[in-house]
Amino acid sequence: MDAIRIHGGTPLQGEIVIGGAKNAALPLMAAALLSDEALTLANMPELADISTMSNLLRQLGVRIDQSALGAGEDDPSAGATRRTMTLKTDNIASVTAPYDLVRRMRASVLVLGPLVARHGEAKVSLPGGCAIGTRPVDLHLKALEQLGAKIELKQGYVHATVPKRLKGARINFPMVTVGGTENAMMAAALAEGETIIENAAREPEIANLAECLNAMGAQVSGGGTGTIKIKGVERLNAGRVAVIPDRIETGTYAIAAAITRGNVKLSGTRYDMLDAVFDAMRQAGVSVEDVDGGIVVSAKDRLRGIDVMTEPFPGFPTDMQAQWMALMATADGASMITETIFENRFMHVPELTRFGADVNVHGASAIVRGSAQLSGAPVMATDLRASVSLVLAGLAAKGETLVNRVYHLDRGYERLEQKLAACGADIERVGGS
Ligand code: UD1
Repeated sequence: MDAIRIHGGTPLQGEIVIGGAKNAALPLMAAALLSDEALTLANMPELADISTMSNLLRQLGVRIDQSALGAGEDDPSAGATRRTMTLKTDNIASVTAPYDLVRRMRASVLVLGPLVARHGEAKVSLPGGCAIGTRPVDLHLKALEQLGAKIELKQGYVHATVPKRLKGARINFPMVTVGGTENAMMAAALAEGETIIENAAREPEIANLAECLNAMGAQVSGGGTGTIKIKGVERLNAGRVAVIPDRIETGTYAIAAAITRGNVKLSGTRYDMLDAVFDAMRQAGVSVEDVDGGIVVSAKDRLRGIDVMTEPFPGFPTDMQAQWMALMATADGASMITETIFENRFMHVPELTRFGADVNVHGASAIVRGSAQLSGAPVMATDLRASVSLVLAGLAAKGETLVNRVYHLDRGYERLEQKLAACGADIERVGGS
């Protein structure tokens, strides 16, 4: 099993090109099930989760072609290889998303809405527990029921059926759910009549999905706001859309620059998707500048401890919480980090303490008392964002760090070691134990 070895202490200097967003690409790929014509997605990232979704969609009857474009061909500012993916679903060959795939990647549940809307039937394994809490799908199911689907739970599978066509409805989510909003939007796009989704998730990935559905001929308005209106259409057509830049990859490398007290330009990304993180970084003493073609992040010497609380967009993202904790472990003073989205999302804490970080968890909050110097340690990755927080701590720590079980990182970070090494980090992938 691969591991990542880091010799920390080098301030990062240089430029990092940000890729397409995993969490935007996955629902866009699922949207290909809604039409028998081709959906073309530009700026696709190359990640393990994208391969898992491709495997699932192929089993359901989707034909997938990929092409790599040379530097700058698709987006002159990108300066990196960008992939385009074309997905075409002439026929639905199977309606089942099996346990083995859903267990590996919860986002597999995003095929539920499109399958039931286009084909009248879907069988999707219940995701079960995962490393960051129970994460149920009850709100996805309730939304589909409101659109007229019949839902049965049998032998660990959700079986959703609708005899004719889904019917538009008013859906009011009792709590903000990104995946639930996406499933409801995709199902409603082909329903008869109008759907209004209230308390919809406002994440930029939702706006990207609305853009994609509209490119395919859907009538979606309000994507990216708390109220989404969808006028159902009978069929969707071919479409083309670009995946938005990955805001979590952007934030992670911004913290890599800050935690090593370096100076890095992040290009191919957007400042407006990360206001909450950049505000907190500035308060901590990090310089963040929105410049032509990117964002320049730099830090010198000492940083201050700043409290953050995770919230749905536009609040501080839960997917940046572990990375923020690593940064706060190197700041002066205390920082309180409160997790309000997921239970049990502090598994990185025992691993961070192995670097000498002083962190205490009280319920949904963690108190970090910063120290001037972390020291390298062998550590174990537990989930995607937790793993990258260990890499960040390793970049700042004195001496050698070995991060084991890095397959978690490959789910969401493309060429992580190469991107960091190009900025001067002493980091390599090795065959682990
Ligand atoms: C998405 C992101 C994930 C991010 C999360 C929150 C993708 C592929 N993943 O996950 O990286 O951390 O948003 O920003 O886009 N909930 C229920 N019932 C449901 C659905 C959700 O109780 O039916 C709860 C969850 O347990 C959690 C909260 O709602 O406590 C938010 O979850 P949700 O926004 O749905 O997260 P995901 O879409 O799974």
